[in-house]
Amino acid sequence: MFSLKNISPRGLSFLTAFALSVPIAILVFFIEHKWQPAAISFAVVLAGAYLLISFVLERFIYRKIKLIYKFIYQTKASKREETYYKYILPKKSIDEVREDVEAWAMGNKEEVELLRANEQFRKEFLQNLSHEFKTPVFAIQGYVDTLLGGALENPEVNRRFLEKTSSNVERLTNLLNDLDEISRLERGELNLIKQNFVIQDLVKDTFESISIMAEQKNIRCYIKKGFESPLTVFADKEKIRQVLLNLTENSIKYGKINGTITASMYNTDGNHILVEMSDDGIGIPEIYLPRIFERFYRTETGRSLDATGSGLGLAICKHIIEAHGQTIHVRSRVDVGTSVGFTLDTRKD
Ligand SMILES: Nc1ncnc2c1ncn2[C@@H]1O[C@H](COP(=O)(O)OP(=O)(O)OP(=O)(O)O)[C@@H](O)[C@H]1O
Ligand SMILES: [Mg+2]
Repeated sequence: MFSLKNISPRGLSFLTAFALSVPIAILVFFIEHKWQPAAISFAVVLAGAYLLISFVLERFIYRKIKLIYKFIYQTKASKREETYYKYILPKKSIDEVREDVEAWAMGNKEEVELLRANEQFRKEFLQNLSHEFKTPVFAIQGYVDTLLGGALENPEVNRRFLEKTSSNVERLTNLLNDLDEISRLERGELNLIKQNFVIQDLVKDTFESISIMAEQKNIRCYIKKGFESPLTVFADKEKIRQVLLNLTENSIKYGKINGTITASMYNTDGNHILVEMSDDGIGIPEIYLPRIFERFYRTETGRSLDATGSGLGLAICKHIIEAHGQTIHVRSRVDVGTSVGFTLDTRKD
């Protein structure tokens, strides 16, 4: 359909020339009372005005637009672009040019916002990092100074202080290991060695290896009734072991005395297995839920319950699961419990 809105410069020139030549031709006809001079003046004015208007448009408007295009796309005039400027651009209407420029401005705005967010993220990261390091280093410094200042000779405290020093050194080591792991994951250096294995067996192994920690709070870990029949997944077993360990560890750390941890697994759509680790612990307030997978993010209660954590556990889990091309999510309610679920591919032959 003919539309004035998307008219090209040539169309615009023609239309203006036409609008100009018709009244002139009518005027000539009224003066001369002959149709030939009217027709000739119509043709001459149409052609002349068309050439003049398109020349002016091309020269004073489209050349400037071409410069704007070159500037916004920052292109060097390659052959392809030259063809574009020569044949395609002149066909564009001013409205289309405006849309292009708007799209460019929008893209730029998004890029600037992303850069700003990254900058903010970097600042927070450094702040968190120094905070996480400061606590154990200052503690170690305190204990060592006290020991050197005389406590070393006091048999009542020397062992306890050394043990505290040692646990802070352990915290530093854990932190460094986690940082190393997360930076490798973020650089995309994760080589997944995928294999088929039964997920229930790995869950049982995980519960086994963490049983001492669970016993301290008298927490029972088991696979939910009805979910025992073996399901085979195709994934990196050691990495998934790490995910399960982090999740179980959280469920114990933030779990209640005499609590329970249950694992369940479902075949969701024939291609994916959903693994869920649920506890009946303290839960996470809804407002914090969107943030707990961020690195270093810990809730206040999380911090007070466990001074040795660094808030990297769930960030590492997320990286590992996403490297598998899968998703991880959390559901939680304060004082009721938390459920973290992730998907995996089913067996591949
Ligand atoms: N099962 C859970 N129940 C209640 N809160 C949880 C649970 N899992 C995680 N959280 C909350 O989410 C926060 C982030 O967990 P994440 O595992 O990333 O770090 P962390 O356990 O604090 O430290 P790290 O895992 O590095 O030792 C925790 O500090 C805690 O507040
Ligand atoms: Mg954790």
